[in-house]
Amino acid sequence: MLDRWVVIVCGAAMNEELRKLPDDQMSFLGAAEELVQTKYTIAEDVISDPIHINVIRGPLTRNLATVLPAVVDEIDVSFRELIPTHGNEWVTIPAVPLMARVVCRASNRIFVGMPMCRNSELLDIAINFTRDVAKGRFILSFVPIMLKPLVGPLLPWSRRALKQFSVIMKPVVEDRMREIEEHEKEWAERPNDLVTWLVEEANRVGKSTNLIVQALLASNFVANHTSTISVTHALYHLAAAPEYIQALREEIDAALKTEGWTKAGIGKMWKLDSFMRESQRLNGISGISVIRLALKDVTLSDGTLIPAGTLCGAAAEGTHHDEENYSQPHLFDPFRFSDKRFDEGEWMKHQYVNTSSEYISFGHGKHACPGRFFAANELKAVIAYLIVNYDVMFPGGGERPGNVWFGSSVIPDQTAQIMFRKRQRIE
Ligand code: HEM
Ligand SMILES: *[C@@H]1O[C@H](CO)[C@@H](O)[C@H](O)[C@H]1NC(C)=O
Ligand SMILES: *[C@@H]1O[C@H](CO)[C@@H](O)[C@H](O)[C@H]1NC(C)=O
Ligand SMILES: *[C@@H]1O[C@H](CO)[C@@H](O)[C@H](O)[C@H]1NC(C)=O
Ligand SMILES: *[C@@H]1O[C@H](CO)[C@@H](O)[C@H](O)[C@H]1NC(C)=O
Repeated sequence: MLDRWVVIVCGAAMNEELRKLPDDQMSFLGAAEELVQTKYTIAEDVISDPIHINVIRGPLTRNLATVLPAVVDEIDVSFRELIPTHGNEWVTIPAVPLMARVVCRASNRIFVGMPMCRNSELLDIAINFTRDVAKGRFILSFVPIMLKPLVGPLLPWSRRALKQFSVIMKPVVEDRMREIEEHEKEWAERPNDLVTWLVEEANRVGKSTNLIVQALLASNFVANHTSTISVTHALYHLAAAPEYIQALREEIDAALKTEGWTKAGIGKMWKLDSFMRESQRLNGISGISVIRLALKDVTLSDGTLIPAGTLCGAAAEGTHHDEENYSQPHLFDPFRFSDKRFDEGEWMKHQYVNTSSEYISFGHGKHACPGRFFAANELKAVIAYLIVNYDVMFPGGGERPGNVWFGSSVIPDQTAQIMFRKRQRIE
């Protein structure tokens, strides 16, 4: 990297070794801090007190079945607004802004709730914040490690965004605090959203409103960019390969018929699940995963000495293209995981959310992404919604555009357009 070396371990066995090292030897939070300079680019309090992580891992994940209908409703309303189809005509729409808007609204329906998830000023602040974190991180990557504590506090953006975000969200949080206090335990209509759960978590550990507001912004930061990237990659695979749409449609129509747009329904979409997992195998969010910072000298099983202070990671790109673990690893084979689920009868092992030493796009081990259960349901709902309601292709039946790399980060093509028309039913 511009400011340091990173030691990368390769292959399933070493991934397993790295993720198993305890936090006091190899620290995930230490690595995140070094890489994103979170203290300066995000906000100091929420980095030392990340209350949102418990809330994402706990109540958000436990309440998935409850919140999913609202997520689907937001997806439905957003797509109706953003894909203006007329009759049977095709419309052509830039993919990234479309997916960013839908993901941002769908996630925020559960993060900040209605009507805030549709507040365009709030969404703009969140969008600018994400961009500014990237900008700050980029600038700090040129600054020598010793000087970062001097330059970091000079970056103005995160403080500015937090202030703007606070103006809108603090009253919402304070109202919720008051309501929760008034109703005490038995408030049946208490909104199921991150605001409620963060207030409860903050009450439990004795924290302030300001920290809750920071946690909401930080949640947007971890959720949005990753989810938008992943779902756009999947959309590109879908638009480039209409031959898979039929099989997916049959499965999704059948699941919706018996279960509707519920968590159970989405759970039955095994082929779609495999499609998403395969898309994320070939197109992660980074070539490096399972990032860790050595807090002590650590000697790996092959004798490599990692001195304290070294940044380490696992080769995600290499792992996901390892012939030892994937036959024809360069091929997009959308049903490779669902075929295994059907054959081996192993329900859990090959599903989208399962991390393993061979599948590390959500990380692996104790710090594996706690938002992946929410993300998997939300992103499957987005793609399922498109599959049952629209025909999708690239203009002129074009091919999937290549990915764009910046250092170790990978993103989908930012300019591609997708054609949509109302699903043509041939019955
Ligand atoms: C497809 C979308 C997503 C991808 C690919 C993704 C990927 C990741 C990865 C690679 C890590 C680091 C794990 C490690 O290095 O071991 C991570 C951490 C994290 N993710 Fe996600 N993520 C996604 C969506 C989300 C969403 C929707 C949320 C919130 C609802 C979220 C919240 C978090 C948090 C809080 C952490 C830090 C965990 C910790 O500090 O222990 N992510 N994610
Ligand atoms: C977001 O950034 C754009 C471009 O820098 C700016 O014009 C806009 O006012 C910002 N929006 C908010 C709400 O800060
Ligand atoms: C979400 O991520 C996408 C893709 O990186 C970006 O274009 C969009 O501005 C982001 N929105 C927010 C609210 O951060
Ligand atoms: C993945 O490959 C490694 C060798 O690199 C092997 O030891 C391991 O058993 C493989 N795992 C699976 C599930 O094929
Ligand atoms: C995930 O897959 C691994 C093997 O790759 C397996 O050992 C583990 O039990 C699976 N997790 C779940 C929840 O099934």
